[in-house]
Amino acid sequence: MPPKVPHYAVLGQPVAHSLSPQIHAEFGKQCGIAVIYLRLDTSELGFANTLARFAKAGGVGANITAPHKTEAAQLCQSLGYRAQQAGTANTLIWRNGAWHGANTDGSGLLRDIRERHGLSLENRRVLLIGAGGAAQGVAPALLETGIAQMVIANRSLPRATALLERLGAPDKLHACTLEALPDMGSFDLILQATSAGHHDQPLPLPAAILGQDSLCIDLNYGRAALPFTAWARSQRCERVADGLGMLVEQAADAFELWHGIRPDTAPVYNKLRISARL
Ligand SMILES: NC(=O)c1ccc[n+]([C@@H]2O[C@H](COP(=O)([O-])OP(=O)(O)OC[C@H]3O[C@@H](n4cnc5c(N)ncnc54)[C@H](OP(=O)(O)O)[C@@H]3O)[C@@H](O)[C@H]2O)c1
Repeated sequence: MPPKVPHYAVLGQPVAHSLSPQIHAEFGKQCGIAVIYLRLDTSELGFANTLARFAKAGGVGANITAPHKTEAAQLCQSLGYRAQQAGTANTLIWRNGAWHGANTDGSGLLRDIRERHGLSLENRRVLLIGAGGAAQGVAPALLETGIAQMVIANRSLPRATALLERLGAPDKLHACTLEALPDMGSFDLILQATSAGHHDQPLPLPAAILGQDSLCIDLNYGRAALPFTAWARSQRCERVADGLGMLVEQAADAFELWHGIRPDTAPVYNKLRISARL
């Protein structure tokens, strides 16, 4: 039997829009590694079966996107520190006949905030809007940066409270509804981590959450990031970004886990901005 060619894939539903194949192809070119990277839509076979079939065909690394990050963590034989904390995995590595999970969303976001936007997080007030999978993935890493406080604001309070309880550190955390935001003061960093923008639904955000020099980042990119980024700009906020930076940085961390080299993300980020018209 011919040896199986190691290959990589992003699994999700949907995945047609995913920029991951393009990002990993660019990283591979830059590092001199021939990368075979597929898009696998799980809608026909389901997540577990798609992943099993992928491994059988020579799959050695997978990126996991919505809505499978929790199931991915559950299917892994072992989990890295961030994946354990978040209870979700966005990167899988096939080793010794089993999947091992990591979560690079938090590290990717931190690198984007610090290196691309030049914000140091020590003693900052952070507002995390949303308490779903994306918020769960990035919150543990944010909490370990020396921030002064993080407010988790979500449409439904029980989900925000559940995330707060999962994270521990009650002295640094506060959970509230979106309606309570006018009483929360201003923030140095505001992260929009809901999926409301996918449905063109603007969030009811008060101008009072913006400070003089707040950095506003929507974890989404493309059309889904528009309602929040347009709102922030309309409030004369000058530091506004979408989630493309986080996407490229979390992909670079996954690439490093698989291939042992961390690529330079700046040229890939710049190229995507132009080619994907983001
Ligand atoms: N840049 C990146 O690399 C990256 C990585 C991961 C995720 N993301 C993006 O982040 C977004 C959230 O993903 P997820 O996995 O957290 O989804 P999820 O688990 O389904 O959670 C959705 C979140 O959005 C909130 N929400 C949805 N519609 C809303 C509305 N109309 N008004 C207010 N809140 C609303 C939900 O509030 P309730 O709890 O009240 O329902 C919940 O907090 C997605 O759009 C995803 O594409 C980006």
